[in-house]
Amino acid sequence: MNLVVVSNRVSRGKPNEPMTGGLAAALLPIVEKSGAIWVGSSGRVRDGNQKEPFAEVEALGTGALAMLDLPAAHYGGYYEGFANSALWPALHSRADLIRASQEDYLSYREVNAFMARALLRFRKTDTAFWVQDYHFLALGAELRDLGVTEPIGFFLHTPWPARSVISGVPHHRELIEAMLAYDLIGFQTEEDCENFVSYAQSDLGLVVHDGVIISRYGRTRAAVFPIGIDPKQFAQLAMKASTHPDVSRLRRSLNGEKLAIGVDRLDYSKGLINRIKAFDRMWTLHPSLARTASLLQIATPSRGAIEAYGNLQSEVAKLVTDVNGQHGEVDWTPIRYLNKGYGQAVLAGLYRTAQVGVVTPLQDGMNLVAKEYVAAQNPVDPGVLVLSKFAGAANELDTALLVNPHDIDGMARTIAMALSMPLTERRMRWEAMMAKLRGHTIQQWFADFTEALHDCQLDKSELA
Ligand code: UDP
Ligand code: G6P
Repeated sequence: MNLVVVSNRVSRGKPNEPMTGGLAAALLPIVEKSGAIWVGSSGRVRDGNQKEPFAEVEALGTGALAMLDLPAAHYGGYYEGFANSALWPALHSRADLIRASQEDYLSYREVNAFMARALLRFRKTDTAFWVQDYHFLALGAELRDLGVTEPIGFFLHTPWPARSVISGVPHHRELIEAMLAYDLIGFQTEEDCENFVSYAQSDLGLVVHDGVIISRYGRTRAAVFPIGIDPKQFAQLAMKASTHPDVSRLRRSLNGEKLAIGVDRLDYSKGLINRIKAFDRMWTLHPSLARTASLLQIATPSRGAIEAYGNLQSEVAKLVTDVNGQHGEVDWTPIRYLNKGYGQAVLAGLYRTAQVGVVTPLQDGMNLVAKEYVAAQNPVDPGVLVLSKFAGAANELDTALLVNPHDIDGMARTIAMALSMPLTERRMRWEAMMAKLRGHTIQQWFADFTEALHDCQLDKSELA
């Protein structure tokens, strides 16, 4: 099978550059080894009606990377507009933040159609397409309109919300009907998959049998494929990173003090405000933890041109200043706040240095940082993961300390407990989490999805 993987964001695999999000981080090691072609946006735009879409193609391990210049007139409406100001908030159950104009929707559809035309160039015999994420909900339907009959799969990296929330997206019905052009739709959790199937049944009035939805396109299988990491490779990265200058400097600066770490894109779904309030509460309730435990928060800038993100950046910066002003001392800063990105080769070492990993999103498809934190720990003295029960990762990492990210007092108590957890309990919890990570690697995720996509094609040919 010649696999063509499609996503908006791609990564060129430069080890010292930060990964922009979990999708690119997850796909990189797979594309590098599987020989697939990965097609995505170059981040540049091009004017006019491109007859032949412009793509820069380069080798990526045994595979290739093709980066397309997207149409200038539609890029903003597609990326900042419909994808990230209508779909992203809805998918993360923030209907209050949905902003969408009719132009944005049309631009989104234009870019989906443009990508479909561009993909024809990568089609060979025995090709299968695998589309990633909410930027391309309608890409399968556009490919079908161009006469593509090959298998097309789709994987959603974010949550899929309740029917009442997704219905807040303008044109939701048309878009979700278009999604049924995919042969296979993969979700991170059972709940996401159930929400989608329930919409297909109740709002579209479609018949669903054993996870297979019947529509005018034929059969679409909806199933769960929780995404993983390569825990072995991450552990090696963490060991190597201990000599990295940033990691050594961090260690030296701690003077025996305990450290909690948070690593997130600066996104309202990540629960940063409540997390910082929980630390504030913890230092108020447990003054003995002032000077003895601090927080390192890396908040990587993301989607800064969108108002909700700009507002969040100011709000978080202000809160950090207030909390540091309140609890700080002449020689102690409670929160080290870094508004920039780090390469994984450094991050792995920072995770390993911290006694507690705090991952407290209000909603998250999976959250790879949670898995990476666990994989990076020193097996003889592992740290503790404090994890939101609303991250997809909580389904597998159920021996983390699970928290409700809306309950600030509860989080404050749990973080304090994590900071003083005895070694035997830390090891027991960590070993159970590692067993889960080893059982669901990124390589396994890739194999499971591509095998299921292949099976969908076999079913189709049997029916024909
Ligand atoms: N990441 C990175 N540098 C940073 C911040 C994050 O390389 O400064 C990576 C991190 O290692 C992880 C990914 O970006 O692999 C974030 O994925 P996650 O699923 O946690 O969240 P997302 O950003 O996709 O919502
Ligand atoms: C999430 C999304 C990805 C996206 C990433 C970074 O992980 O699921 O599709 O690539 O965030 O966001 P960005 O808008 O910078 O690509």
